[in-house]
Amino acid sequence: MMPAPRPLMRLAAWLCALALPGLATAQDAPRSGYSYMEPETQALQDDDFLNPGFFLVDQGLALWQQPMGPEGQSCAGCHGAVETAMRGVAARYPAFDPAADRLMNLELRIQAEMAGRMQATPFDYSAPEMLALTAVISLQSRGLEMRPEINDETLPYLDMGREIYETRRGQLNLACLHCHDDHAGERLRGDVISQGQINAFPIYRLLWSEAGSRHRMFEWCMQSVRAEPFARGSDEFVALELYLAQRGAGLAMEAPGVRR
Ligand code: HEC
Ligand code: HEC
Repeated sequence: MMPAPRPLMRLAAWLCALALPGLATAQDAPRSGYSYMEPETQALQDDDFLNPGFFLVDQGLALWQQPMGPEGQSCAGCHGAVETAMRGVAARYPAFDPAADRLMNLELRIQAEMAGRMQATPFDYSAPEMLALTAVISLQSRGLEMRPEINDETLPYLDMGREIYETRRGQLNLACLHCHDDHAGERLRGDVISQGQINAFPIYRLLWSEAGSRHRMFEWCMQSVRAEPFARGSDEFVALELYLAQRGAGLAMEAPGVRR
């Protein structure tokens, strides 16, 4: 397991030292993590030529057209131009897939497309190629409102995600909500805690010097409170993703985001 990043450990220790309020907190109106960033970081996200996330978008565009599997099929071969075919898709994920009988986020959906329709070996959940495809697909929802569909199939996952979000865990005994609801906007030695919204993913994170998925971010946060993270792509993390998408519903999609 990766060691927890030091500045966040200090932050978490500081939070532990406070008398943490109970679970019954009023939630503020959704606010993108973008609004908590320094102006220089915002400027990096705003400029498509400087934004390092666009390196992924270019790669993703090439992969969209690349023949894969025994029959040499490409995503573009079936779907056509990514700009029209994938418009708005990322904004309503995770979504329930009746064939697989499970909730799927974009990564799982892409793996299913590759394995099922193309008989190709799917990219690993955390492969650079996977990040690239999610980046180019998510870009096609930029400016649209994040709004997953809540129905009979997705409701149980929503409840599961909420429970995970509110459960204290790890040696520091903190839940997501203790940082991202109760202490959003608070600053400590340059760290500003945001609401933990997911409308900008995949993000290029300056701290990582590379891009990362939502589930990598969840993992980082869980490790920072010294909890054993769920696996990337697990039902738990996809459910958490659905809860966060619903919690932030109405926020404009902004992938590829840039974060500190
Ligand atoms: C000890 C405090 C703490 C806890 C507990 C915590 N986080 Fe975080 N989280 C942070 C900090 C600090 C950052 C980086 C600054 C920011 O964007 O808030 C962050 C960032 C994030 C982001 C990225 C936001 C963006 O705009 O890119 C998401 C999403 C997130 N956290 C989700 C979670 C989830 C889900 C949990 C529970 C499993 C969790 N966090 C638990 C402190 C925490
Ligand atoms: C053999 C044809 C075929 C190939 C190849 C293919 N797809 Fe699909 N894909 C479909 C069909 C059919 C659907 C279901 C109908 C729809 O939503 O367009 C679908 C659905 C999807 C969806 C869900 C759309 C939604 O609205 O929920 C995504 C995302 C997707 N494909 C991405 C990809 C990617 C990425 C690739 C390449 C790695 C790919 N597809 C390759 C035929 C294909």
